[in-house]
Amino acid sequence: MLLEARDIEKSYVGSRVLKSVSVALKPGSITALIGPNGAGKTTLFDIISGFVQADSGMVRYSGEEITRKPAFLRARRGIVKTFQIPHEFGGLSVLDNLLVASSDQIGERFPVGLWSRRAAREQERVNTETAYGILEFLGLLASREVKAETLSAGEKKLLELARALMLAPRLLMLDEPLAGVPVSVGEQILEHLVDIGAQGKTLLIVEHNLEAVMRVADWVYVLVDGELLASGRPSDVQCNERVQAAYLGKA
Ligand SMILES: Nc1ncnc2c1ncn2[C@@H]1O[C@H](COP(=O)(O)OP(=O)(O)O)[C@@H](O)[C@H]1O
Ligand SMILES: [Mg+2]
Repeated sequence: MLLEARDIEKSYVGSRVLKSVSVALKPGSITALIGPNGAGKTTLFDIISGFVQADSGMVRYSGEEITRKPAFLRARRGIVKTFQIPHEFGGLSVLDNLLVASSDQIGERFPVGLWSRRAAREQERVNTETAYGILEFLGLLASREVKAETLSAGEKKLLELARALMLAPRLLMLDEPLAGVPVSVGEQILEHLVDIGAQGKTLLIVEHNLEAVMRVADWVYVLVDGELLASGRPSDVQCNERVQAAYLGKA
């Protein structure tokens, strides 16, 4: 398993938001975490990415315990998350938004000396090349010089994805990637996510839109009221009576 979260507990002012939740992400797979609003999805997501600390339980990534590691260290190791609400730099061009996102900027780490200046230029060239590749992949290349604030809501989501890809994630985490975008853009985003998965990256997608993720996920966890109600292949989870009763309001 690339990532394992075991027996995760989290309470906010006396209310148990996560009740001994365990999930595991297989390398190269797309895992969906679904459940109604307030189920605790974002809390679990933030515990995995390191933005929130669990009260107890353990998070293990690539053979190493990371339960208490801060988010920026996890990002360096390849755990990268995108945000529910895109947070691009509106005044910067699309391309510069990607360059700002790139990690390990030598020019910032070693600001002096001829050698480091040369190294910084080389790093910038590599980053720019990477950025072009990502923008092309996501269909944003033609917009590279426009200010990010002029993009549509859907394009901003794609830009957010592009910025995340600049960090060369091994585990890419997305919290409601389809929220607030038209259906057609949502379809496009899903296709890109499948392509990213096919490139060997591991994905964790949080969604309350069950149908959408069912089509792309290899494995699904259903979280209801802080508890894992079911997990399995999409087709199995869809047939699960408890899931239908609690989540779909059917049965
Ligand atoms: N920082 C916080 N302080 C207090 N309560 C919180 C906080 N974050 C989340 N909660 C509560 O935890 C529960 C789960 O929230 P969340 O993880 O955002 O669910 P989901 O993402 O599934 O909609 C909700 O009842 C929410 O109000
Ligand atoms: Mg949420």
